[in-house]
Amino acid sequence: MANKPEFIIDGLKATVEGKEILKGLSLKIKGGEVHAIMGPNGTGKSTLASTIMGHPKYEVTEGSISLNGEDVLDMAVDERGRAGLFLAMQYPSEITGVTNADFLRSAINARRGEGNEISLIKFIRLMEAKMKELEMNPEFMHRYLNEGFSGGEKKRNEILQMLLLEPSLVILDEIDSGLDIDALRIVATGVNAMRTEDRGFLIITHYQRLLNYIKPDFVHVMMQGRIVKSGGPELSERLENEGYDWIKEELGIDDETVGGQDEEFKVPMNTTAPRY
Ligand SMILES: Nc1ncnc2c1ncn2[C@@H]1O[C@H](COP(=O)(O)OP(=O)(O)O)[C@@H](O)[C@H]1O
Ligand SMILES: [Mg+2]
Repeated sequence: MANKPEFIIDGLKATVEGKEILKGLSLKIKGGEVHAIMGPNGTGKSTLASTIMGHPKYEVTEGSISLNGEDVLDMAVDERGRAGLFLAMQYPSEITGVTNADFLRSAINARRGEGNEISLIKFIRLMEAKMKELEMNPEFMHRYLNEGFSGGEKKRNEILQMLLLEPSLVILDEIDSGLDIDALRIVATGVNAMRTEDRGFLIITHYQRLLNYIKPDFVHVMMQGRIVKSGGPELSERLENEGYDWIKEELGIDDETVGGQDEEFKVPMNTTAPRY
């Protein structure tokens, strides 16, 4: 590919059901770069991923997202996929009645566009080869999408999609959760093989463990719906050793979650008051 992709988020604010979750988030990812977003639960990480992909529940109220200068917020969900955005989800959906092979072939063809569809024989060869790389049982080709898959199998299947779709921006949301150490290594090998100049990565993770296998170039910490600290790999190592408290202290943050303590209707944890 001639040009390195460039993905830019600027001053992004987004709401869910009228509640503001993303509170002004900016991030720039170029081809060849791996950015990790780390943060405790409830700080808005998955919301960021869903907002980028155009999930209808999340409404952008301010800011912009662009890929190679094109306005992502202007694109419908399928157009975002075609433009090269890809999300491996934290909780992939199960779809009965659609086999994995059918789904993947439609996804590839949607990305390639009309008149440029992959032939069935090429698709099968490609899928077999990639499944082998991920040490997946070929039987998964004909199973309904994610139905009855274990947590680890779902995650591997998300990575299979990534390998087949060859996106320009890959977002992995907690891809390490539910994976044992062998599966984690296989997934990381798949990801690392995709690390080229024509692709950027946004890796969302709670734990540093994944980053031992996929070494990030940049590490960002997310709290209260925004990036509160950025650094290099040494930042994730410090988080591994010391947790998140030192950042909260440094920045004077009591509750790192979105809306946390200043939320109007929140009942204190230690309350003895009756609820009506
Ligand atoms: N679809 C949704 N409906 C209602 N609230 C949501 C939805 N998605 C996220 N939220 C809220 O946004 C906040 C951040 O959630 P999330 O983005 O999942 O955080 P993280 O991924 O960092 O754990 C939480 O308070 C959560 O309840
Ligand atoms: Mg999440």
